[in-house]
Amino acid sequence: MKANAHFRLLEENYLFSDIAKRVAAFTQAHPDRSIIRLGIGDVTQPLAPSVIAAMHRAVDEMGCADTFRGYGPEQGYAFLRHAIAEHDYRAHGIAMEEDAIFVSDGAKTDVGNFADILDTDNVVAITDPVYPVYLDSNRMAGRTIRFLPCSAQNGFVPCVPDFHADMIYLCSPNNPTGTAMTRAQLAQWVAYANEHHALLLFDSAYEAYITEADVPHSIFEIEGARTCAVEFRSFSKTAGFTGTRCAYAVVPKELIATNQDGSTVSLQALWLRRQCTKFNGVPYIIQRAAEAVYTPAGQKEIRAQIAYYQENARLIRQGLQQAGFTVYGGVNAPYIWMQCPGGDSWQFFQDLLEKTGVVGTPGAGFGAQGEGYFRLTAFGDREKTKEALSRIAKAF
Ligand code: MLT
Repeated sequence: MKANAHFRLLEENYLFSDIAKRVAAFTQAHPDRSIIRLGIGDVTQPLAPSVIAAMHRAVDEMGCADTFRGYGPEQGYAFLRHAIAEHDYRAHGIAMEEDAIFVSDGAKTDVGNFADILDTDNVVAITDPVYPVYLDSNRMAGRTIRFLPCSAQNGFVPCVPDFHADMIYLCSPNNPTGTAMTRAQLAQWVAYANEHHALLLFDSAYEAYITEADVPHSIFEIEGARTCAVEFRSFSKTAGFTGTRCAYAVVPKELIATNQDGSTVSLQALWLRRQCTKFNGVPYIIQRAAEAVYTPAGQKEIRAQIAYYQENARLIRQGLQQAGFTVYGGVNAPYIWMQCPGGDSWQFFQDLLEKTGVVGTPGAGFGAQGEGYFRLTAFGDREKTKEALSRIAKAF
């Protein structure tokens, strides 16, 4: 048999697996060193009490013949799709029908899988630096990729290009730079996409961290987005579901793609067809847990968790600035993007680990334009985050 030759274009390891390996090697060599992990964006706060209570109730239902559930709807249970449409969209003035919502086991999964329904001839535009999944999943499919350079000069916000792209990945608030796009900037992209009959694949997994009024929480706040955008959202960073897995994609019915023969097809219909074939839905227990996020008590609890991480972000920004570093992000996002001394981000990763035991993510891992930068996450424990900052201030 032959392997998919496109995989040869990928880095040998996925970025975060690579980092985990390097850290494991370091801890093996130095078992006495205390390590503080601010690398991968994984939450540290336990699931909220309302979420846990809903999960317990659902577990009990699964143990009783009258309330047991087998396969659920591939698109997600109606109760959760209803709660999402109501709280994440209608409550914010965005009309969103429940048929457009597809519950899944992760935004990463959705982002990676969505390209299944799009032609491999499409030209893809992605930012540089970028969340590696957009790049790798399109490399796997053999698509042509064009980069949209993001730097301090353009505030790490991609400019609308002067070339044609069919698929554009945007992430706001951004991973890795922690910066966010304003309403006016997103409106330019919506205009571009409608003009070019392109699709915006909009990742808003970090929308809960937005603090500034002119940063939209959803691409559908922008007029014209329903004909050119799909949105990915997640319960991972909003409500601590990184281990339990629950997310959703929003695919409006107005999204129409063209077939090779010139006929047209609904992306919503194709995505439903794809999900029904390759996905059996998120467990009932997890969907009930996600539904509990939208109860008044659930909202109060998760807002407190988000505020905790936001305060970590503020402390990291402030601590690094006081230590003389130039920093970006962290205001509308749980990521802080710092300029690293020496300019070689993998070297800084190693120096930081050796001198302080702090783990971060080298900017070069997110693309060529990421070189010279370094990402820290605000998802750590408060005391450990403070300790990390004090170690960094002493060491550099
Ligand atoms: C990251 O650290 O960039 C995150 O873990 C991304 C993700 O959620 O996959």
